[in-house]
Amino acid sequence: MSHPVHGYTHNGPVDCTLPFDTQDLNGKTAIVTGGANGLGEAYVRALVAEGVTVCIADLNEDKGSKLEAELKGTKFIQCNTAIWEDQARLFREAISFSPAGKIHYVVANAGIHRPDEVFLYSGDDQEPQKPDLSTIDVNIQGALYTAKLASHYFIKQNGQRASPEQEDTCLILIGSGAAFLDCPRAPQYCASKWAMRGIMHALRRTTFYYGSRVNVISPWYVKTNILSDEAFAHVSNQGVVFATVKDASQCLLRILSDAGINGHSFFISGRKWAAQGYIDLDLDDYAGNTLIQEIQEDQMKSAPASLGLFI
Ligand SMILES: NC(=O)c1ccc[n+]([C@@H]2O[C@H](COP(=O)([O-])OP(=O)(O)OC[C@H]3O[C@@H](n4cnc5c(N)ncnc54)[C@H](O)[C@@H]3O)[C@@H](O)[C@H]2O)c1
Repeated sequence: MSHPVHGYTHNGPVDCTLPFDTQDLNGKTAIVTGGANGLGEAYVRALVAEGVTVCIADLNEDKGSKLEAELKGTKFIQCNTAIWEDQARLFREAISFSPAGKIHYVVANAGIHRPDEVFLYSGDDQEPQKPDLSTIDVNIQGALYTAKLASHYFIKQNGQRASPEQEDTCLILIGSGAAFLDCPRAPQYCASKWAMRGIMHALRRTTFYYGSRVNVISPWYVKTNILSDEAFAHVSNQGVVFATVKDASQCLLRILSDAGINGHSFFISGRKWAAQGYIDLDLDDYAGNTLIQEIQEDQMKSAPASLGLFI
């Protein structure tokens, strides 16, 4: 399906209870970073089941190679997303592997969580130590590299003038509950996940020029390797119900299947809060807040999206 030619408009939340049709996904090519395990692996499996050619980009050679061997139509490309040269090579190899020589969907999923040295106290008798910011390196810098490379290839494929002939493309950024909730003691992880919404807000009004879209998937707790078994057990013991990789991958398929979905954030909520296990919380347009909407208009007055892609 070609992409509708229009700028960004907010038409309220996506109704995730409606059925969706995945037929347009067949024959497309996707890149999933961090695709060898957990949520990324689930995105890979769901895409492959819909006839999508998938490049699995991951640090973990053992898991990535095994997944490639198991799933026809996939290629494992070992890569550290925090390193520009690795990602540039990833995209070049993906283009070569793609049957159409194109990349249609990019899921910037690689992410880490570790004890946050920005928060931790060095002790009364210690000079504060320079904190390890590797969470930022992977979760923000790596995602920005992915966003740049995705835009580059989308623009190269579709040009810079919106038209009905452009083939739909989409960048998916991975947030978290930490992208909109208070998560005490984790400033780096929180900053990195709010950042995904920031990138989405910066891109969503001009993606239409190159036949593209940008959306955020924000998972609630999902049992993967991102935290230790003990940490997940501790959360679960408080009565917190986890979301599932299956519902996250269905959310991805819904977004990719509907070329009208641009600039939204979806919360992978688990079935406690939504029948499908995911929901558009409609947090990204301050619905009903006329003051913020007025301020937003002033924000864009000097450089409205209608002026063009690169001005
Ligand atoms: N599981 C959750 O509860 C949860 C909740 C909210 C958001 N998320 C987000 O979902 C995404 C996936 O997390 P997950 O839970 O599946 O984690 P996971 O640890 O199970 O899997 C992450 C995968 O990414 C790979 N990876 C990590 N750093 C990388 C790098 N620099 N370059 C390439 N690959 C790298 C790992 O090797 C692994 O295969 C992350 O962005 C995470 O922040 C997860």
